[in-house]
Amino acid sequence: MDIFEIDGPVKLSGSIDVAGSKNAALPVMAAALLAAGETVIPNAPNLADIRSFETLLTSLGVSVRRDDKHGLHIDATTIDNPVGEYDIVRKMRAGICILGPLLARLGKVKVSMPGGCAIGDRPVDIHLRGLKALGARINLENGYIVAEAPSGGLRGAQIFLGGPFGSTVLGTDNVMMAATLAKGTTIIESAACEPEVADLANCLNAMGAKISGIGSPRLTIEGVRELSPVSWPVIGDRIEAGTFMVAAAITQSRLQIRNCDINNMIAVVDRLRCIGAVVEAADGGCDVALHGPIRPADITTQPYPGFPTDLQAQFMALLSLADGNSVITEKIYPDRFMHVAEMNRMAANLRKEGPSVIVAGVEKLIAAPVMASDLRASAALVLAGMAATGTTVVQRVYHIDRGYDKIEQKLNAVGAKIRRIDV
Ligand code: EPZ
Repeated sequence: MDIFEIDGPVKLSGSIDVAGSKNAALPVMAAALLAAGETVIPNAPNLADIRSFETLLTSLGVSVRRDDKHGLHIDATTIDNPVGEYDIVRKMRAGICILGPLLARLGKVKVSMPGGCAIGDRPVDIHLRGLKALGARINLENGYIVAEAPSGGLRGAQIFLGGPFGSTVLGTDNVMMAATLAKGTTIIESAACEPEVADLANCLNAMGAKISGIGSPRLTIEGVRELSPVSWPVIGDRIEAGTFMVAAAITQSRLQIRNCDINNMIAVVDRLRCIGAVVEAADGGCDVALHGPIRPADITTQPYPGFPTDLQAQFMALLSLADGNSVITEKIYPDRFMHVAEMNRMAANLRKEGPSVIVAGVEKLIAAPVMASDLRASAALVLAGMAATGTTVVQRVYHIDRGYDKIEQKLNAVGAKIRRIDV
């Protein structure tokens, strides 16, 4: 099992490239199931979660191959086993995304009910409510969701997809994919507006779907008879980009971040500027610099276009070094605070109060052995390690490998001192 040894504090400089988005690529991989023939994602990132989805697709009977030059090739001409097995889906919740496409294309599917995970209870009730509205019969059998379309196929409907924490990203993806092949018109109200959902909708339209209202909370989908495979480069990963922006700020450095669209990151840029960073659009990305005090700022996570929950932990690392107090409130996953205790081991002063954390800024962080608990929490520990005095040891690095491709190599190329050690 790999660990990271991180020497700090360091100064960073230079240019860093952002990969294709994990959370855009996963639903596009599921969308490939809607069409016979070969779908290509030329810039699919080479990450553990993507590889788990490849395993899932292969287990369905789909042919998947990765070619370093031309990306990920998914040929879904044949699907002979429409079952998302527990052992695969439990490792990667995005596995639930095969539900909509397989129901639409084959009329039946069985997928293991995903469990909870380190960031909290993550139900799929809204996904199921949406698919039922399209006419699907859904039963739970031995931990599996068993779904069947009516004999005439799925039919369009007006569907409200809001939940107690706002819209649902993968729920919108699932219902939107199912509706592309349903008879008639589907209207999804309270659809998620995340750029990754818009990217999937644009990909589906390139496959022949008829979706309008893309990027808004009201999607209209006119069902079509069939879809064709496409080659679809996904958008740059705004969460990886945001992580590198924090890397520049927390080390009091300047970085050029390439292959990201800061128009998709307005809330993040707003908070960075409030904290004292200079952020300027430049050459397919942005330049981020912070020289001077880190100012405190309050942050509340919300569905897009609000501040993303997937950057909450990284900003907590940054604000732990602010010259004052900040309040960070989680409105998507109220329990997503596993990093708090670990950062306190590094001399941060964080106090959890319900769904909020009071961040009392400290003058310096001090290296310590810490444990990664989930993907974004581990990214936060790496950021804290680069700013802390001494050598921080991060255990369970496999969490970070789920969503960042060789993060240590990218950061070392701009001045970090991170060693991956197989222990
Ligand atoms: C996606 O998860 C992302 N995953 C998550 O990224 C991200 O944190 C999340 O959206 C929110 O932005 C992928 O894209 C693969 P939701 P998803 O359904 O779609 C509740 C990362 O670090 N809810 O939008 O599963 C839910 O519990 C990951 O890359 C229901 O109540 O999230 C949460 O409170 C982690 N019932 C809220 O809605 C449902 O049926 C939003 O969750 C579905 C969700």
